[in-house]
Amino acid sequence: MQRIQPRAYVAGEFTLPGDKSITHRAVMLNGGAEGEAIISNALLAEDCLSTCRCMRALGAEIDVDGTTLHVKGTPRFRRGRELNCGNSGTTLRLLTGFLAGKEIDATLYGDDSLSSRPMNRVAEPLSLLGADVRTTDGHAPVYVSPKPLHGAEVELSIPSAQVKSAVLLAGISAEGETTITQPVQSRDHTERMLSAMGADIRVRGNRVTVKKSVLKGMNVCIPSDISSAAYYMAMGALKGETLCKNVGTNPTRTGILKAFDLLGVEYKLLHQYVSGGEPTADILVKKSSMRAISLTAEDVPSMIDELPLVALLCAFAEGESRITGAKELRVKESDRIATTVELINNLGGDCQELEDGFLIRGKKQLSGGDVNSYLDHRIAMTGAIGLLASERGGNLYHPECCAISFPEFFDKLDIKLY
Ligand code: S3P
Repeated sequence: MQRIQPRAYVAGEFTLPGDKSITHRAVMLNGGAEGEAIISNALLAEDCLSTCRCMRALGAEIDVDGTTLHVKGTPRFRRGRELNCGNSGTTLRLLTGFLAGKEIDATLYGDDSLSSRPMNRVAEPLSLLGADVRTTDGHAPVYVSPKPLHGAEVELSIPSAQVKSAVLLAGISAEGETTITQPVQSRDHTERMLSAMGADIRVRGNRVTVKKSVLKGMNVCIPSDISSAAYYMAMGALKGETLCKNVGTNPTRTGILKAFDLLGVEYKLLHQYVSGGEPTADILVKKSSMRAISLTAEDVPSMIDELPLVALLCAFAEGESRITGAKELRVKESDRIATTVELINNLGGDCQELEDGFLIRGKKQLSGGDVNSYLDHRIAMTGAIGLLASERGGNLYHPECCAISFPEFFDKLDIKLY
């Protein structure tokens, strides 16, 4: 448990850790590619360490030097491995697709939270390519057995980058062409990295086509994670002024900036450049008075991990905000609709649970109170920001789970965890 005191004013410049989604992909794809690669500014949080652990078990060599990884890939994976994916849905889902295409057998499993999350969403589309992927009543452990794959037309019903990526990573080993159609564009880091590593891939709007390809190792310089920066950006909007440096601004990830536009948050993108195929910028955010917003399904994928934080900002905005089309939040590391509603109400806010989102009646100020993260890293960090911005602060239960994506989260706010 951590006591968090309110702060009247927060100003500062923050350098945030590397992007989680891009680190997973850089390690996984280079681990299964021909040749060697250097990955710089990698995120060494628990989720990405799960991907490193699995790739080493499959035969890739990965040396860690600070936040730089030296990866020697193995195009021929070791068979019969039991792969511990920890808390990481990205590790388990993407690797299931990658391994199905490699025609090997493996078992992928994870912790209690990961074992409760849906896995048929990857097993079913992969079966259209001929893959032999079995789940345990729709959950992990997931068993992959060797079977040659063929191309297929796959229409996804949910806008999930993890599912899309699993199919793409299987598709590069399939005979023929695989085309995926997604209902709304989700993050496209896999498409960008596959293309840069020599894969035969074409993107037209919401359709992506891949053909059989051999991946070549590629150096990757990873921008800072906008999903981690978002907490410090929110601090700026609520309490002063923050500058987050070298943040990835891939347009499939910048929904938080759209939410800022609607809320009336004052921000600026400075020093915009492209690094390793990904747009990057410094983001300056200033204290702003906010107004209520309305978000729907179209808005959700580009801010999926930031929605608990966006809901918290709505609790400080003038008027009634409505977020819908966000049912996917129910199957994250916690049921993030239920845990966010509890968080906001325990802080003294007024948030009502909808089947697929939230109704939030904003107040100028939240009193503070006790918040439980339910071991969900995004809920822990959203709770911490809510407490810092509240009148009295309060206790945060299970704060240490922020190590899943952002181990230095509390240090950078000068909060010592005991
Ligand atoms: C991720 C995709 C998203 C996101 C997760 C990371 C990825 O999940 O919530 O934190 O790296 O592909 P879904 O694909 O399930 O929406």
